[in-house]
Amino acid sequence: MIITTCIFDAYGTLFDVNSAARRAAQEPGQDRLADAWPQLARDWRQKQLEYSWLRAVAGRHCDFWQVTQDGLDWAMEAAKLEDAALRDRLLALYRELDAFPEVPAMLTALKAKGLNTAILSNGSPEMLQAATASAGLAALLDDALSVEAVGVFKPHDRVYDMVGQRFGCDRDQVLFVSSNGWDAAGAAGYGFRTAWVNRTGAPVDRLYATPHHVLTDLTTIPDLT
Ligand code: LAC
Repeated sequence: MIITTCIFDAYGTLFDVNSAARRAAQEPGQDRLADAWPQLARDWRQKQLEYSWLRAVAGRHCDFWQVTQDGLDWAMEAAKLEDAALRDRLLALYRELDAFPEVPAMLTALKAKGLNTAILSNGSPEMLQAATASAGLAALLDDALSVEAVGVFKPHDRVYDMVGQRFGCDRDQVLFVSSNGWDAAGAAGYGFRTAWVNRTGAPVDRLYATPHHVLTDLTTIPDLT
């Protein structure tokens, strides 16, 4: 089946989630972050995701901005870095994360081939709007689909259903791209073609499906369509 629609996870895939803590650590007066930021960024991300999964299985949805704040609060306490001004700064930076450097050229190539392009993310509509605008990607994406429309986080099928509803395509006409192994597995299990962007050389997740492609960055995505 010919791929008509290329769908991207947002956080960790198009946007570098570590860039908030990394950028904060470079700002004046943030010496305490110099050594602490990598672990802070790891804990923040891990707790954010754990809380999303736990809320999904418990049927206690809240939006991704809430779990982002809750994950940060856990990570800051673990690092003994509780400080209201630093918290505000990290959250502000999370709303304008860096896109990975290859993203604009990759999306431009997909649009030149006539493909539909969109984000499908746990992020709230406001978070996705802020991130795509600050990274200058809005014109290269047809849409940014948020799980808020269905009220449950990935990898629930109701989230992946949003793609066919928006673009009128079959599952096997979709190339779904994620740096999150569990999201790539979820999408593969759903029936999308999937590419897992494994920037860190992580082992493949032992779940109910495996990705069709494993890449080290996004550069070659247009070659898969
Ligand atoms: C997202 C998270 C899972 O953007 O990275 O959906």
